[in-house]
Amino acid sequence: MSEQSTIKPVRKAVFPVAGLGTRFLPATKVMPKEMLPINDKPLIQHVFEEAREAGIEEFIFVTGRYKEMLEEHFDFQPELEQTLEARGKDDMLKKVRDSEMPAGSLFLTRQPRPLGLGHAIWCAKKLVGDEPFAVLLPDVLIQGPQGCLKQMMDIYNETGGNILAVEDVPLQETSKYGIVDTGGDTSKSAAIKGLVEKPKPEEAPSTMAAVGRYILQPEVFEHLAAFETGAGGEIQLTDAMAKLIGKQSFQSLTFEGKSYDCGSRLGFIEANIAFGMRDAGIGNAVKEIVKKYATEL
Ligand code: G1P
Repeated sequence: MSEQSTIKPVRKAVFPVAGLGTRFLPATKVMPKEMLPINDKPLIQHVFEEAREAGIEEFIFVTGRYKEMLEEHFDFQPELEQTLEARGKDDMLKKVRDSEMPAGSLFLTRQPRPLGLGHAIWCAKKLVGDEPFAVLLPDVLIQGPQGCLKQMMDIYNETGGNILAVEDVPLQETSKYGIVDTGGDTSKSAAIKGLVEKPKPEEAPSTMAAVGRYILQPEVFEHLAAFETGAGGEIQLTDAMAKLIGKQSFQSLTFEGKSYDCGSRLGFIEANIAFGMRDAGIGNAVKEIVKKYATEL
């Protein structure tokens, strides 16, 4: 058997969407933060499309209380479609249809308590089963020539193992991220020798941060199941992955593109400007508006 045929395809993706979104209150008082729009699509649809582009077939949402709107968003909306059809609004109809998930591809599980990202992923254990899977954090949007997960998948299909999308961040911001140690290797794709969750700048092994896109092997669930708490008193995905380094291959990918932390208000506003400026319909008008406000300052 050739090496390549032993690499199991990544067919499933996990989206942790149970978070409360307190940073956006009162906007998120009744609306899930994943439904906040960047340009004309909610955050969750941007990441769904990224996963779909990468060939993902099963979409697993780890949800919580008051998140029903997320499943509604991806459902068939017959009245809306009929109205748009009757009014000849074909472009809108196309957009609505494009936001529908194929039958049998959406799976839901719940994270009853906010015990950390690692715990949220563990909640998807039964739905993922014994196969590799992707994780996409919907707070983070990535703009680039190709979807970030697609770029990761291209490498995965050659090498297998675990892959983390990374980006260089300012040294003073390492305490916001999981930071990878590549032993100084700055190649586009480097072997990961260690991982630390939210280190202080003086303790960070590098400034290469995991930005919320992962391809993982199912063995990570064994370590998540220990429910050990780490940084911030939470069960961390980073810690479970770190335990597998040396036993499995872990690679970083410095992807082509830029990430936007839409879980923060500034990142959210920046993403709206960036996505708006690249919109085929309103892009030039958005640039004019940005210029106008910049010169007024
Ligand atoms: C999570 C992860 C962290 C990662 C970050 C990316 O942290 O724990 O390793 O770097 O997402 O956004 P959070 O932002 O949920 O605190």
